Amino acid sequence: MCGIVGMVGREDAVSYLIEGLKRLEYRGYDSAGIAVPAPGGLKTLKSVGRLSALEARQTLSPLSGPVGIGHTRWATHGEPSERNSHPHLNQKQTIAVVHNGIIENYLELKQSLLEDGVEFLSDTDTEVLTHHISRCAEGRPFLDGFRQALGDARGAYALGVIHADEPGVLYAARLGSPLIVARGPKGLFIASDVPAVLPHVTEAIYLNDGELARISDNRVEIYGLDGSTRPLVWKTIDLDDTAADAGGFETFMLKEIHEQTRVLRGLLSEYVPGGAGTVLPDLHLDAEGFAGIRRIMIVSCGTAYYAAMYGRLLIEKYTSIPVETDLGSEFRYRDPKILPGTLVIAVSQSGETADTLASIKMAKAAGCRVLSICNVAGSSLVRESDHLIYTRAGPEIGVASTKAFTAQLMAFAIFTLHAARARNEMPAEELKSLLQDLLNLPNAIHYVLGQRNEIESIAGKHHEGPSALYLGRRFNYPIALEGALKNKEISYQHAEGYAAGEMKHGPIALINEYLPVICICTDTEDEVAEKMISNVKEVQARSGRIIAIATEGETRLDGVAEDIIFVPRCREPFSPMVNVVALQLLAYYAAKARGTDIDKPRNLAKSVTVE
Ligand code: F6R
Repeated sequence: MCGIVGMVGREDAVSYLIEGLKRLEYRGYDSAGIAVPAPGGLKTLKSVGRLSALEARQTLSPLSGPVGIGHTRWATHGEPSERNSHPHLNQKQTIAVVHNGIIENYLELKQSLLEDGVEFLSDTDTEVLTHHISRCAEGRPFLDGFRQALGDARGAYALGVIHADEPGVLYAARLGSPLIVARGPKGLFIASDVPAVLPHVTEAIYLNDGELARISDNRVEIYGLDGSTRPLVWKTIDLDDTAADAGGFETFMLKEIHEQTRVLRGLLSEYVPGGAGTVLPDLHLDAEGFAGIRRIMIVSCGTAYYAAMYGRLLIEKYTSIPVETDLGSEFRYRDPKILPGTLVIAVSQSGETADTLASIKMAKAAGCRVLSICNVAGSSLVRESDHLIYTRAGPEIGVASTKAFTAQLMAFAIFTLHAARARNEMPAEELKSLLQDLLNLPNAIHYVLGQRNEIESIAGKHHEGPSALYLGRRFNYPIALEGALKNKEISYQHAEGYAAGEMKHGPIALINEYLPVICICTDTEDEVAEKMISNVKEVQARSGRIIAIATEGETRLDGVAEDIIFVPRCREPFSPMVNVVALQLLAYYAAKARGTDIDKPRNLAKSVTVE
């Protein structure tokens, strides 16, 4: 979704704003803009398309000044165009606003502004809010008017506002969309996330919902919407900035795919520090806490939802806890029966996904404890949760999730083994053997990464068709879904993921001699392997072009599959963490062959902060 940045600087702010927007571009990239107070009023600079277009304009007709706000947009209201891009101004051009979120009652506010004779220049909800702030601030201190306007707005917002009458001041507010205030030697900043301003700051305040900030040189004041003052809770930032460059890889996504061995090793050394013979450290859920779990409900969206599907299979295999999964966007609008003793697990890379957040708020209101599996410390989700498994994959810049997903799968493995042991549902010997298998996974992933050239040539043979089908069973059914999602997100080739046993209930009609069918056939512990091979044969009988992911040494696919990507033998419940890497690479090279913008696929945004 949109990214916002603002600065009250000790030197010219504009280059910092542009740098911050570049670092936020993964959140939205259809247009961008900045505004600064200047002699005689506010000045703005806007452009459609990528940030490079804004930079080019800044070179031609530069803005300057120590205070400013900037925005990179992912369109919600109104097409991507210059007139819809932020910052938006009030009629007198004395107030400029950047916004991430959605003002739900904007039509109602717009109607009353139209009655007051306001003329609108854009189709956005943000412009409506800008005029409303202006109306509320007429003839009174700006802070009071700003607060009143926010009290009238329904929906979600992170806002940065400047006002010509107070050129040294930056206002900010947050409700439902993330926003931080940060400080460092160059001045004070606001931003949608810490990485946007990471090189220049050492400490940050994570604004809470319903808080607004007034920032002037060296001074930050935070207020509630009721006017009460709030304490300043500065937190030291300990993030590594190396993620901000692609480190010699052609894209961030390729770099992040290759980081997966390191990410999983890191998680294992944190949660299984003594190797397979280890006593697992607790997750701030003691044995009593685990024993009290009668049911688990997992909520998430997109790729994280496929991780949830995997989590359910794993928890139900190794513990006696019944598990349900739901999409955040569905859970929040149905009438879920949240029984006493339910632990809600929320899975999210960003920790800011609007539907996931709304779901856990509902669950908390129903009295549940919430455990989050999240990649961003300090995110809204982490702050709302009672327990956390921090996936520590590091910032994920490529818009399509890769390393955060495998880290989510590993987090579920760690959670499951903890739960099984704490509930006395797993003998120590079995735990030891499972831990040993987990510890072997990074090497197996390393092996798959080593086959990238072969995978690239396989992708090169199949990328041209309009469509592809992905099949998997049991633990690898969510991986078939994830493989298909990766492919469609970055290569724009239509792709469907299916449970292989469901194929003959419909999608088999799609199969012909042109359709690539990607079949996950790695070894399983029982008859499921045989069933999967039978499904592959059904595809063969209809002349589908089979690409199989198979365990090394597998011979049953000889003469059946057109191409086989071999992966090391893994215990079936853990094989998804290895198999998905092969599918990520397959999607990656299909996208490369199709010439798409892999790190910033069209229409997508990294962090979906509106519902
Ligand atoms: C796909 C992808 C998305 C996210 C989804 C949820 O590659 O990244 O489907 O998984 O938008 O985002 P988070 O995990 O931040 O809640």
